[in-house]
This record gives sequence, structure tokens and C-alpha cells, in this order.
Amino acid sequence: MSYYVTTPIYYGNGEPHLGHAYSTMAADILARHMRQRGEDVFMLTGTDEHGEPIAQAAEREGITPQELVDRSARQFRDMVEKVDSTHDFFIRTTDRGHIDRVQEVVNRVRENGYVYQGTYEGWYCPRCADFKSENEIGPGDTCLIHETLLQREEEENWFFKLSAFQKPLEKLYEENPGMIEPDFRRNEALAFIRSGLRDVSLSRAKLSWGVPLPWDPEQVMYVWFDALLNYFTALSYAREGEDLTERFWPASWHILAKDILKFHAVYWPAFLLAAGLEPPRRMFIHGYLLMGEKKMSKSLGNVLDPFEVIERFGADALRYYCFREVSFGQDGSISTAGFEARYETELANDFGNLASRTLAMVGQYRDGVVPSAEPDPLLTADFDGIVQRVSALLDQAQIGQALEEIWVLVRRLNRYVEECQPWVLAKSEGDALRLDQVLYGLIEGLRVVSILLHPYLPNSTATLLEALGEPSLDLSDFGSRPGGQSVERIEPLFPKL
Ligand code: MSP
Repeated sequence: MSYYVTTPIYYGNGEPHLGHAYSTMAADILARHMRQRGEDVFMLTGTDEHGEPIAQAAEREGITPQELVDRSARQFRDMVEKVDSTHDFFIRTTDRGHIDRVQEVVNRVRENGYVYQGTYEGWYCPRCADFKSENEIGPGDTCLIHETLLQREEEENWFFKLSAFQKPLEKLYEENPGMIEPDFRRNEALAFIRSGLRDVSLSRAKLSWGVPLPWDPEQVMYVWFDALLNYFTALSYAREGEDLTERFWPASWHILAKDILKFHAVYWPAFLLAAGLEPPRRMFIHGYLLMGEKKMSKSLGNVLDPFEVIERFGADALRYYCFREVSFGQDGSISTAGFEARYETELANDFGNLASRTLAMVGQYRDGVVPSAEPDPLLTADFDGIVQRVSALLDQAQIGQALEEIWVLVRRLNRYVEECQPWVLAKSEGDALRLDQVLYGLIEGLRVVSILLHPYLPNSTATLLEALGEPSLDLSDFGSRPGGQSVERIEPLFPKL
């Protein structure tokens, strides 16, 4: 089966912060898990590099927009690499391949009769790159999101007949209840659609930093259409000499936060339908990482720098913490104190110690060779169905719940050590077979959880699996590997801070 997962493309005038890393890590966890299942996976992340704010930021700095976005793309690329994202392509909307394909698609939309010329008059927020409707305007003509003054705009441009898609979109969401997750976001989107869709500008006349309309190059595409299309265009040029569209379109999942729900749930499928293309299968709308009560965002200046966090805790800890602390789909506060606490109690103690202790005991009592033994029925029962449960949750992009399922077993293995007290069993010859069984169970349990945890903790689980003599990342049931392997002791997986 092919599996295609995307992240939003991040604005090329900002600096990466943990909020951006969050979406990319989420998509990466899904991508890694699906690869473990042997699926044909493609993961996409990248930068959104056109539009007014970028042109203005460049002007303020006295550099060209291209210079600005080159710098920013480097920073984002660096960030996604630092969080160990295994994306298959990093798209930039200034890529020639993207621009060409966008022009092809918009031509199709026009040929299909969904484009006309008109006069736009209304309120516009350059920071949102969004034309505001009546209910989106704050007191004193301000943007409800940025609390800044809106601009009154009047210009001749080209319109997209969004209104023609009101019924088709209602039908789409009614017939595909799982298309937007969580469910309350689907309801939000449907309510917006049912309240009435008005046509929207497809182009801007006063801007030059964008994709020119093929039939009227004086105008550039409205940046949201240009940006949304990245999910589609990337497939056509990500691999030189190969078009992956057939293989991966429509996308399995778009991952994004609630700030851009409207664009993804309304404009995006409408535009695809207008071009005669298939809409995406599903989108998962996650919440915000908050600092205290506030959204982490550049304009509020309360951002955690992912580079600093990784420097201190490592990428694994960052990936783990974000999906453990914050329920995926909801807003949630994060803090340095919270990082430290989970790092110590869960990663260093629950998981890291369990691994070190188990390997040390096999070293000490069995010369580093995993004993062959019948799996302990107690553990077999606890592990029963875990691969299916985790897979089913990740099929629904339930990243936090899947992690919780796995962590229950990490805790279970810790209790098992305490219950069985291998160091007591080791003292009497008569308990040798029981000790074999206990050590076998611990190693086997560690192996199964490490494989399941791999998408979350790619580095530490790779180290551990190597020490366990397990070369494969394929999902695997408890008890399916017989003993006999040589195992090695390891340095603490999560050293004390
Ligand atoms: N360029 C547009 C998206 C175009 S997609 C076709 C954009 N860029 S952005 O740089 O503002 O990124 C927004 C996205 O970054 C959010 O939807 C979310 O995925 C992520 N996040 C930014 N701040 C965040 C938090 N504080 N918390 C969680 N995610 C956050 O919008």
C-alpha cells in the first residue's frame, strides 16, 4: 500500500521554532512506523516562500526575497534534520518544478470554468495572507489573530469560484466522516462551509513575488493556492526523471495545526476538485504547543528554540516529550521543567534503566547470551495484540495514544523485574530455569517495545536493538524470536542531565 504524509510548509520569513518541529516530528513518526510495516512511504516537508510578508521582510533587510528565503530554507532544513526527520523530499515553493506544476494546475482550473475576472474590495491581513470576511474582523478593523490593523484593498484580479463547491464539499465531508480528524475539527469545517462560501481572489495584482498566472503574468497567484499545491506538485519532480503522482496521490494524511484549518479543509479540496484532481484522503488537525497559557509563536516572542532543546536533551527526548506531554489534537503546555521531569523519570529511569539492568543481568548471570526458554505466560498475555493495537492507533494518527500503549508495557517490564527479582533467583541452582524464563522475557519485551518505540526514539532504540542483537526493525510479536543471541552492555541510553 502507498502511504503519503505531509506537513505544512513553513513560512520562509520566520525562524524555525518548536511549533514547526512538532508537525514535522508527527509526520515523521507516522512515516517511520509505516515503513516498518513495509508500506511504500513518501513523506514531505518544506517551506512556503512566496507572498507579501516575505517581499516586505526582504525589503526591510535590504536583500532580495530570494536571498531571504534561501537563508530561511537553510534554517528549516537544518531544523528538520536535527529532529531526525526522514522526509523523502524538502519542497520549496520557489523550486522551478513547483512553479511549473502550479501553472499547469491553475490552467486546468481555468479551463474547467472556475476562474473569472473581477474587482476585489475588502479587508486583507498581510500576515495571515488572508482576505477577511465579516465575522473575521475585530474591533477597529483589526485582524482577530494578529490584532493588527487590516488593510482595505481594492484591485482588479482573478477570482476562483469557490462558491460552486459549497455543495460538493458538504457532500465530501458527509460521505467521508474520517476525512478531518479530530471530529470536532470536521464539524468546525462543515459549519464554515454551510455558512456559505464566497468566491475568493485567485491572484494579486500589486505583488510580484509569487507564481505568475500563465495567462496574465502581471498577476501572481494568491499565495495560499500556490502553497497548498505543494502537496501535489512535489510528487511530480521530487525524483528526477520520475513522476510519483500516480503512486502516491491522493495523500494519506496532511498534518497541520488548527490555525490553517480553513485553507486546508475548504480552499484545498475545492481547488483540487476544480482542477479535476482527487482530494486528499485525510487530514489531522493538531493543537498548539503552548508556553504557559499562550501559543508559542514568533510574534509573541515566547518560542522554544528546538536547537537548544536538542542540544540539552537530544532529539529522541524532544520527540518523546512533545507527544507524551501534549495530547495530539489538543493544545498543551510544555516547559523546560516538564522536559526535565519526563526525561528523568520516564526516559532515563523507566526505559533507560530497564535496558541497562536487563543487559547487565544477562551479562552477569548468563555470560551475555539470551537464554532459550518458554515465554512467561504472564508477559505473553500483557503483550498480546500490542502490534495490532499500536498499528490501529497510528492508522488513525493517534500518536500520543499509541505511545501510551507502548509505555504501559515499558512500565510492565519494570514491575516484572521487581516481581521476579532475578538477583534472588540467581542465587539458587534450583531456580535456573525460572531465571532463564525471566531473562528471556525481559529481553524479548525490550526488543518488542524498542521496535514499536523506534519511530519516537529512533536513536536510542537503534542503539538498544543493536545491543540486543536484533538487526530488524520489522514489527514483531512477543515470543517470536527464540533465545541464543549474544547481547552487549550499553552506556546509559539517557544519561543524567
Ligand atoms: N505557510 C503556511 C502553511 C502553508 S501549508 C500549505 C503557514 N506557515 S507557518 O510557518 O505559520 O506554520 C504554521 C504551522 O506550523 C502550523 O499549522 C503548525 O503545523 C505549526 N506550528 C506553528 N506554531 C505552532 C505551535 N505553537 N504549536 C503547534 N504547531 C505549530 O501557516
